[in-house]
Amino acid sequence: MDFLGFDDINSLKDWVAQARKLKNAPLRYQELGAGKTIGLLFFNPSLRTRLSTQKAAQNLGLNCIVMNFDKEGWALEYLDGAVMDQGKSEHIREAAQVISQYCDIIAIRAFASLQDRERDEAEVVLKGFQEHASVPIVNMESSTAHPLQALADAITLDENDLNEKARKKVVLTWAPHPKALPHAVANSFVKMMKQQDVDFVITHPEGYELNPEIASGVQIEHDQNKAFENADFVYAKNWSSYNEYGKVISRDPTWMVDQKKMALTNNGRFMHCLPVRRNVVVSDEVLDSETSLVIEQANNRTYSAQLVLMKILESMKGQ
Ligand code: CP
Repeated sequence: MDFLGFDDINSLKDWVAQARKLKNAPLRYQELGAGKTIGLLFFNPSLRTRLSTQKAAQNLGLNCIVMNFDKEGWALEYLDGAVMDQGKSEHIREAAQVISQYCDIIAIRAFASLQDRERDEAEVVLKGFQEHASVPIVNMESSTAHPLQALADAITLDENDLNEKARKKVVLTWAPHPKALPHAVANSFVKMMKQQDVDFVITHPEGYELNPEIASGVQIEHDQNKAFENADFVYAKNWSSYNEYGKVISRDPTWMVDQKKMALTNNGRFMHCLPVRRNVVVSDEVLDSETSLVIEQANNRTYSAQLVLMKILESMKGQ
């Protein structure tokens, strides 16, 4: 069993319920991973994913090897038939098979290049490992998806009564950022929200449309204030342009989430995957207020990862 994207979750409702149960007794399955090893391969920086996935693995008794592949590994070639007479020292064909001998599960973080949309959408790194490794692969944020984050967000929403009482309104808002950022978090959040029984709205400036295949069927509102009206949850995230691929086409500071905008909501809760740039994406006031769920979201990263690893370990039993 691989965990590459949100589509690998067969029942979101069941997975959220199981993760919440796991959160109450995280050390209950410490024997499950005994004698097994997970390798966490990072091609990009991380705080939450690295530590929460490591903790999740430890909770399951897994041995954990972490490698900052971009700094410590050989530069990998992914193209079949490549004449490797330039900067790439090792082919994915050997690397994936070799790592599979040391690790029973391989988890990978490999962001979008934001240079070449076709290559990013082909998920060359993640799919390269999937094709050539002989063990399960876990996506710790790829070019187009961050399913462990979206699962943690679903847990956080459920804990904060998304599915209780009246139907809720959830808003995903684009927010300004000085750097070009990938679409992975927004994509997976949209996929997750499409499985929820809520009113879901995406708000962004013109030109910041997400991949139309992912956003299809979702209400888009270009007036951010209007979108915030009566929202129960506001999820802020920057992403770069999809059509002018990887470009920053606006840094409009009026799109920052502040107290005035949150006052338009229905006592809405603020969410962000972190790391977040204070007073660029969101004001101090909002981030430091009781409406903010960002620390809870980060905490739930442990349980989303632990649930995924548990399912993989269970699927390996008897193999
Ligand atoms: N949200 C998230 O994935 O955080 P890191 O980039 O720090 O892992």
